[in-house]
Amino acid sequence: MAKISSNPVEDAPAAQSSQKRDAACRVALVGFGTVGRAVAKILCEGTDRSLRLTHICNRNIERKKQPWVPADVVWTEDFQTVLSSDADIVIELIGGLSPAEQMVRGALQAGKSVVTANKQLIAHHGPDLLQLANSLGCQLEFGASVAGGVPVLPALRTGLCGDRLHGIAGILNGTCNYILSRIENARIPFSEALEEAQARGYAEADASEDLDGGDARAKLAILALAGLQTRVAPETIRARTIRAVDAVDFDYAAELGCTVRQISRADLKGTTLFAEVGPSLVPISSPFGRVQANQNLVVTSGQYGGDIAFLGAGAGGDPTAVAVVSDVKFVAENLAARSNASRRDVARYVSTPATSSDFETPWYLRFFVRDQPGIVAKLAGILATHHLNIDAVLQKPGFDKATLPFVITLEPCRDSLLHPALEQMSALDFAIRPCLCLPILR
Ligand SMILES: NC(=O)c1ccc[n+]([C@@H]2O[C@H](COP(=O)([O-])OP(=O)(O)OC[C@H]3O[C@@H](n4cnc5c(N)ncnc54)[C@H](OP(=O)(O)O)[C@@H]3O)[C@@H](O)[C@H]2O)c1
Repeated sequence: MAKISSNPVEDAPAAQSSQKRDAACRVALVGFGTVGRAVAKILCEGTDRSLRLTHICNRNIERKKQPWVPADVVWTEDFQTVLSSDADIVIELIGGLSPAEQMVRGALQAGKSVVTANKQLIAHHGPDLLQLANSLGCQLEFGASVAGGVPVLPALRTGLCGDRLHGIAGILNGTCNYILSRIENARIPFSEALEEAQARGYAEADASEDLDGGDARAKLAILALAGLQTRVAPETIRARTIRAVDAVDFDYAAELGCTVRQISRADLKGTTLFAEVGPSLVPISSPFGRVQANQNLVVTSGQYGGDIAFLGAGAGGDPTAVAVVSDVKFVAENLAARSNASRRDVARYVSTPATSSDFETPWYLRFFVRDQPGIVAKLAGILATHHLNIDAVLQKPGFDKATLPFVITLEPCRDSLLHPALEQMSALDFAIRPCLCLPILR
């Protein structure tokens, strides 16, 4: 006698056998959180009969069940149920490295193609996983892993693959952009802007990954992989925090026709990849200066096509789900055509260049000092010792002399030349905070 169970895991085989295999591409979803739910909604509500959601897998699955999901979808907390099913595509949306990596490898080894939005996974293991997918005749797509709903990765791998790209720059972290544009518009302290972002759900309780650049550099590593065909470990990209940016920096930046944004940039020059993430001055009138709230912007620079910009919602369940479902459709069409055509096969062309953050730019140096005679002369002396040329000295009136902010801008020089001078200047007895040093990107 058949065992009757209310457990969806145990029900799975029965449910599968009762489903007749139709022409639709069968899709299993792993991770039913913000993005997973939004993906399921699109798949369940859509009129597209070429895709059929067959499984939803998540830990502690009972609390996840939704009445709008069709009754024939199998709910399970056992990933093996997905692996042994006849799903053609597995969507990985649990995030993080483990167990996501094992799940993606397992799915590929079981002959299933994979779509993921997982930036950490692709930044750390993208080339290896793409090679594995190739060797097994499967596809791996990751279009939502950078810039959420902005289709920059598919564009890099199709529409721009005829160019020879040499540079990519972007605003890749919506949390930082929200905080910086709030400080800019309301002249509130960093701590207040962070609290506001947390209250609105734009920043996590521990927002270190966003604020200190870890999130953006993982995304920059993926853009470098897809657009510049370079393999770079995210940890080797220098990341500077936005925590030291103060409302007064927007006053001084405005004097220079600029504002402050967290910019991620990668320039391939010969065999070196110059890359870094951090707050930077950008012209107010530039595309970067105009990006507000939690939007993302990516600008690519190509030898033949020049600069191309991509702007839009960098996060959020629905926009990200659009990118995921677009990848699923792309893979499904290839499977239906029995084609292994994939977007540019980045794994095949990838090189591993030396990585450097030694960009040559003009610089913005902001000091908070206890006012006393001779400060500018002392700082100028240190800069002269290091052969660094001052462009301008800016001091706005009306500040408390005990915590006086003022700015020195420098003519272009390499980061590595500036660094020793900064250490000396921050150790001076009138300096009440370390000097904030930001590149000026024109
Ligand atoms: N949210 C965005 O705007 C956005 C944008 C671009 C890319 N992404 C990427 O999309 C992916 C998903 O993000 P999200 O915002 O949807 O995350 P989320 O809301 O935290 O959802 C993750 C889901 O996976 C489940 N899960 C976590 N670990 C699991 C495990 N070991 N086994 C089974 N289920 C597990 C979680 O279950 P619990 O409910 O038990 O925690 C949760 O339901 C991540 O890679 C993220 O980086 C997100």
